[in-house]
Amino acid sequence: MVQTPKILAFSGSARTDSVNKKFIAVGARAAEAAGARVTLVDMADYDAPLYNGDLEAASGLPGTMKQFKALMLAHDGFLISSPEYNGFFPALIKNTFDWCTRAEAEGEDGMASTTGKFVGLMAASPGGLGGVRCIPRLRDCLAEYGIQAVSGFATLPGAMQAFNDDGSLNNDKAQATVDGLVARLVKALS
Ligand SMILES: Cc1cc2nc3c(=O)[nH]c(=O)nc-3n(C[C@H](O)[C@H](O)[C@H](O)COP(=O)(O)O)c2cc1C
Repeated sequence: MVQTPKILAFSGSARTDSVNKKFIAVGARAAEAAGARVTLVDMADYDAPLYNGDLEAASGLPGTMKQFKALMLAHDGFLISSPEYNGFFPALIKNTFDWCTRAEAEGEDGMASTTGKFVGLMAASPGGLGGVRCIPRLRDCLAEYGIQAVSGFATLPGAMQAFNDDGSLNNDKAQATVDGLVARLVKALS
């Protein structure tokens, strides 16, 4: 439990015009307003090959994954906006958590970067379901790393038409859902 929770926020899409990047920026602003200190990162800056044990044995964690692991260790919780690919969250998220939970030294607890932390789950999609099908799957996946999702989620259907030019949402109900989610996340971490 901490006074001012530190939240690491990111989109599961590295795509330049990603609607999830726009949605996570909305979530990050809402979490700041709810009293958290938020670090919003772009996964395009943390590119990594698919996990491969041979690669790890030869050269350890990729530099980008070392950097991201350090960020994870320095934060109390996470806020993630995930795209939905064929009903699931993308490989980018799983791959990042797999790399970042690998121990790099004898006796190191690799899961220290994740265990006991909370996450707020968001998803945005151009489609009518807003990516909601990936939410329970991402919740299950993150539980394997010891991360507990706070109750509920924030999804954004019709995401291509959901933002004003300044990046804000043009739908008060969608904004209220984000505000409710981050309020629960900040409360869980405080
Ligand atoms: C491989 C693939 C599978 C997809 N499957 C789904 C899906 O199951 N549900 C959905 O709502 N959108 C699906 N989409 C469309 C994505 O929601 C859309 O490309 C979205 O813009 C991706 O998120 P981003 O804008 O944050 O990159 C899929 C896109 C791709 C590339």
